[in-house]
Amino acid sequence: MWPLVVLLLASASCGSAQLILNKTKPVEYTICNKTVVIPCFVSNVEATVLDDFYLKWKFGNENVFTFDGEQRSSTPGKNFSSATIVPEALLNGTASLKMDRSDAVPGNYSCEVTELSREGEIIVELKHRVVLWFSPNENILIIIFPMLAILLFWGQFGVVTLKYSTVTKEKTILLFVAGLVLTIVMIVGAILFIPGEYSTKKASGLGLIVVPTVILILLQYSVFMIAPAIGMSSFSIAILILQVLGFVLSVVGLRLCISECIALHSPLLISGLGIIALAELLGLVYMKFIASNQRTIQPPRKAVEEPLNE
Ligand SMILES: *[C@@H]1O[C@H](CO)[C@@H](O)[C@H](O)[C@H]1NC(C)=O
Ligand SMILES: *[C@@H]1O[C@H](CO)[C@@H](O)[C@H](O)[C@H]1NC(C)=O
Repeated sequence: MWPLVVLLLASASCGSAQLILNKTKPVEYTICNKTVVIPCFVSNVEATVLDDFYLKWKFGNENVFTFDGEQRSSTPGKNFSSATIVPEALLNGTASLKMDRSDAVPGNYSCEVTELSREGEIIVELKHRVVLWFSPNENILIIIFPMLAILLFWGQFGVVTLKYSTVTKEKTILLFVAGLVLTIVMIVGAILFIPGEYSTKKASGLGLIVVPTVILILLQYSVFMIAPAIGMSSFSIAILILQVLGFVLSVVGLRLCISECIALHSPLLISGLGIIALAELLGLVYMKFIASNQRTIQPPRKAVEEPLNE
């Protein structure tokens, strides 16, 4: 308190005194900041009316924002259309600048405050820090589980088309086309969903990975129905319920993650995708099991043939 009083006395006694602006550390912003505040504080304000102030924020030589107290006019610079201050706060010495993150550019900003004949300037550095949407491990799992689920579907497709000659061509082609479309959509999603900071591109990539897994449920259902001797057994119903559960979890996870700049709900999403892959795996194992059981129940003619071959 005392140094301030001394300063005030000193500045009062000596007309050409400067405004004292507090030195501030560099300020950081991330993708999570909707707005960015660059601080600037004057510690020895004397004026009691806004008319006495003139404030100028600059980025290099570029004008960021000016406030003319006499005119009560605020003028943001061309590239900083969202820049604003709270004029009344100037009376308390606060000249901090606020702008949308989209306008913020990392670098040195200068805050120049004029109060009647006194003036002061300070430079504040604005830094951008990268924060990842998903951690690298989470990124890998988010790509791997759906891809695994698709590969397992293709495995089921192979079992159905190779083991059961009774399946019609139309059904085979339909399954193939649906599987192919799903595979392509997921690959596009995975390409858009490159690791890094949150962006709408990455969010849509994630959507393309997660939402189409609903098709996997339909495909698994079709495969069960098409394969003779499987149909809606209690085991296939259980697998389908598990898969629906996985889908619901991953869609809820997707919904939550998409509204977060750092995905805190990724475990929900990832466990959903993991359950989908598990359901596909169980489906394939079940089908293989049924198919091999069927082979052992051979028509009598073949059963006679086999011992002869050995
Ligand atoms: C960004 O947000 C954080 C957390 O809300 C805050 O502490 C920080 O001051 C903000 N950065 C800027 C430059 O406004
Ligand atoms: C605005 O930004 C662009 C690109 O960053 C730059 O070329 C241009 O000079 C800036 N406008 C002004 C008024 O300085």
